[in-house]
Amino acid sequence: MTPAVAIIGGTGLTRLDTLTITHQEAGSTPYGEPSSPLIYGELNGRVVVFLARHGLDHTLPPHKINYRANLWALHRLGVKQVIAVAAVGGIRDDMEPGVLAFPDQIIDYTWGRHGTFFEDNLTQVTHIDFTEPYCGALRERLIQAARALNFDARESCTYAAAQGPRLETAAEIRRMERDGCDIVGMTGMPEAALARELGLRYATCAVVANRAAGKIPGVTITMAEIERNLLEGMGRVKTLLARVIPLLDEATATGQTDGA
Ligand code: HPA
Repeated sequence: MTPAVAIIGGTGLTRLDTLTITHQEAGSTPYGEPSSPLIYGELNGRVVVFLARHGLDHTLPPHKINYRANLWALHRLGVKQVIAVAAVGGIRDDMEPGVLAFPDQIIDYTWGRHGTFFEDNLTQVTHIDFTEPYCGALRERLIQAARALNFDARESCTYAAAQGPRLETAAEIRRMERDGCDIVGMTGMPEAALARELGLRYATCAVVANRAAGKIPGVTITMAEIERNLLEGMGRVKTLLARVIPLLDEATATGQTDGA
């Protein structure tokens, strides 16, 4: 049975323990191996497939992730919609640790990643529309679920995709802020663009793990802080995912090629 939705889990969500797992399979693709096996299960009455973006043991850094294999493996299953969960740093003042954020725009600062399926053996050069990088209908469902749960959520923001794996300098964050970015993470691109190339509905649920570099003068960002905030934040994400499942009706179950 084709899963109703794919969930890509990021840092802090390498296993989805709310999923009643039925089986798993390796998802090899023409682009290589995905980050983890495809884990099938049931969540709130629907079939869901889960993929751990950094691997089940969180061993793949952002720049080493095979984004093409991940998206292709999900696409090949016939999945039409993808919820991407991601840890981020908070740039905008109201992006406090623990808050959920649903970006509607993205700026790509990454480099050297395989960012397209339209590269080799082309019959024609292809440019996809990416004006609205996230699926509006799927975002709306996530926001609806967050509201119903009374979660502290930011409903509109711009995601800065940084290269990593190091965190940013204070000047880099100031530049991102001048560019209009509100949150910063390392995995949002090329994931979102590849999903669009495949006609998948794609939306991100971000969890703010820390204030971005330089936002609190004199404070060093530690993995311990990030992990502590994510533990709590991902608890809310799991509740949100269960809540959003019944909202994923036909409006979001078919593929799309625009930002609607
Ligand atoms: N920067 C980039 N990626 C991140 C951060 C950050 O501060 N926190 C969690 N992921």
